[in-house]
Amino acid sequence: MSNQAILENNTALFRRAAISDQPNILADIYQDDVNIAIWQNELSELATQQTNDLRQSSEHLNMVLAATPDNAMAQLMENHALADKTALCQHIQILLDMFCTLFELKRAGLRLTLLDKAMCPKFHVDKIPCRLVSTLGGPATEWLAFEDVDYTKLGLASVGLSDDESGVYLHENAIQQMQSGDVALLKGSGWQNNQDAALVHRSPHVANNEKRLVITLDFID
Ligand SMILES: [Fe+2]
Repeated sequence: MSNQAILENNTALFRRAAISDQPNILADIYQDDVNIAIWQNELSELATQQTNDLRQSSEHLNMVLAATPDNAMAQLMENHALADKTALCQHIQILLDMFCTLFELKRAGLRLTLLDKAMCPKFHVDKIPCRLVSTLGGPATEWLAFEDVDYTKLGLASVGLSDDESGVYLHENAIQQMQSGDVALLKGSGWQNNQDAALVHRSPHVANNEKRLVITLDFID
């Protein structure tokens, strides 16, 4: 079935990106025709510096927490790698607060990871309702606009084929990349009425001796 196929209820299937430098753009993820909302944000100078300190250190970081807006800060700063990085932890706490407020959650699943290679290097959709993703430093997540995807080439259909070979994206200029600092909500296939229109994305290539610092927030409970 092509992306422009008419659904059983005769509604044309289409999705768009909502992108702005204002944080309230994230609420647009509730629009039925939006499958990605991006707040084009820049970290403060201090948070950027603390992120870069972490990326240049030999630290291994893969924190997984269930955190509330009230206890996120304390939980983050318990980690010795973050103990002196107040500005960075405050930024993460603000993101968690926004996520919990937007989706009326008491707490969220937080993962903060330093990555030296692509974790999910092939284009895919997430089988969840919605995830917040923000690359705090280093190359950021790559994604495809709905009209640039051939959904029939995803997953099992692409076994053994790279993204370049599989035909999953429809033209050379289709691959879009966020900037570090950007805060994105990626609508997955688990969102109501979005099973055939989830946001397609992948981890970027990471050069030798380079690290990305990435935060994700998920629904829990
Ligand atoms: Fe993903």
